[in-house]
Amino acid sequence: MSIEKKIIELKNKIEIAKLGGGREAIEKQHKRGKLTARERLNLLLDEESFEELDMFKTHSCTDFGMAERKYLGDGVVTGYGTIHGRQVFVYSFDFTVFGGSLSKAVAEKITKITDLAAKTGSPIIGINDSGGARIQEGVDSLAGYTEIFLRNVLYSGVIPQISAIVGPAAGGAVYSPALTDFIFMVRKTAYMFLTGPKIVKAVTHEDVSAEDLGGADIHAMKSGITHFTYDDEPSLFEGIRTLITFIPQNNAEEPPIVETTDSPERVEHELNYIVPNNPNKPYDMKEIIKRVVDNGEFLEIQNLFAPNIIIGFARLNGRSVGIVANQPRHLAGVLDINASVKAARFIRFCDAFNIPIITFEDVPGFMPGSQQEYGGIIKHGAKLLYAYAEATVPKITVITRKAYGGAYCVMNSKQLRGDIIYSWPTAEIAVMGPEGASEIIFKKEIEAAENPEEKLKEKIQEYRNKFANPYVAASKGMVDEIIEPSTTRFKLIKALELLKNKKEVNPYKKHGNIPL
Ligand code: HXC
Repeated sequence: MSIEKKIIELKNKIEIAKLGGGREAIEKQHKRGKLTARERLNLLLDEESFEELDMFKTHSCTDFGMAERKYLGDGVVTGYGTIHGRQVFVYSFDFTVFGGSLSKAVAEKITKITDLAAKTGSPIIGINDSGGARIQEGVDSLAGYTEIFLRNVLYSGVIPQISAIVGPAAGGAVYSPALTDFIFMVRKTAYMFLTGPKIVKAVTHEDVSAEDLGGADIHAMKSGITHFTYDDEPSLFEGIRTLITFIPQNNAEEPPIVETTDSPERVEHELNYIVPNNPNKPYDMKEIIKRVVDNGEFLEIQNLFAPNIIIGFARLNGRSVGIVANQPRHLAGVLDINASVKAARFIRFCDAFNIPIITFEDVPGFMPGSQQEYGGIIKHGAKLLYAYAEATVPKITVITRKAYGGAYCVMNSKQLRGDIIYSWPTAEIAVMGPEGASEIIFKKEIEAAENPEEKLKEKIQEYRNKFANPYVAASKGMVDEIIEPSTTRFKLIKALELLKNKKEVNPYKKHGNIPL
């Protein structure tokens, strides 16, 4: 055969491979309201940047007539490309081929590029739309899943791993995304669960739809499994492209610096008036964050889960930072189980990938009550403490108002190796709130008073005057500087600059034992 003919043959094969399960299956996929594996990659990656690997790989199953049902590339499209010019590795399940189910060949394609991503220090992004284990292949499929899980774990903290869920993810298909750093879900067509509605009904007699069991909103609000939720696939892929701009290629690199037009000296007078005079009145911590960061751009993560704590990425003078902030607008910014776990995992991501952590603190304490105690607030709150304590990236705190009790200790205090602790003059740093403290330490005096209610009020005021301010903490060096709120942006940028070359190493260990 001449070379020309060979090239034509190759081109024909490529065309066939690009059709996946065929035109009819593609039409069906579109009718389900979903894009195809390749259409998704086109949205995710820079134009014309995708290079496909293993396009001709097929499954090797011969049972159930499978020898006659082979598709070039099998149930996943894999390769690499760029996002904003930076290299990433990708795999995109092809639902048009056996419902994107996981065969041995599919698993081998995924593990091959995952290893390449790790060797070259590049992020890996998986696009999931799969019926789970390829039923015809039995244990080979289980082994394939396990090979993927192993790599998710080994490369955790080495390269960023991101999952998009844009179709079903049931059974084994949920655990790889669960092991990755960020999960993006689309509403209506995506769902994740270990066991589907039919099995749920058979085992527990519960009637529940796929959407109510594992839809995007459920995982955004109730389980906290998903980090970002979108109405359609194009917005979801744009979301992943944005996230990539904040994070480095791997754990040995710094995040990219993005030039900004926002002046580092910008003073925000409005910040002086944001904290209300009445300490029991809420305000919106997001207002503070947006007024401080470059161009007000804040990529919030898990915004629908545990809104009493805010986490997300922003930039200060072009440098990426991870922000953790109590939100006084929800439950007064109290720390509960969900808030602790949400923030702890984020802090560990930032620490693994060299992203400085900025903490905005206004926290009345940990949430009291039997529900929280039975749920294990002791162990879950300890996760947050652990995450802050072990982190060695630059850690800066701004105390805007309350820093009471255990919550003071946990939220990146000086003693947890907080590098720079700023406090606004509105801060109240003490062992507990003035109300609770007065009732305990002045108990006898209040009981003996002619008018106990008046006496309590008087004592609360006395306590507030003495301790509900930042000066006691500052006199002990627990606060480095009390700053005018309007200068917060400038001060944070100064501190980041100061800490640019920070080096801190934890004692040698195989790994710690975070309270899980
Ligand atoms: C082989 C599968 C498949 C699978 C779907 N298909 N899932 N083939 N193995 N797991 C095939 C279908 O036979 C069909 O082929 C095509 O994909 C499209 O599927 P439909 O059912 O027509 O699509 P839809 O109506 O959209 O429903 C999608 C679905 C459903 C909800 C995912 O297919 C389904 O329930 N599949 C089974 C899910 C499941 O139980 N998986 C195993 C989980 S156990 P044709 O040829 O007709 O087009 C597991 C254990 C691993 O994963 C544990 C590891 C730790």
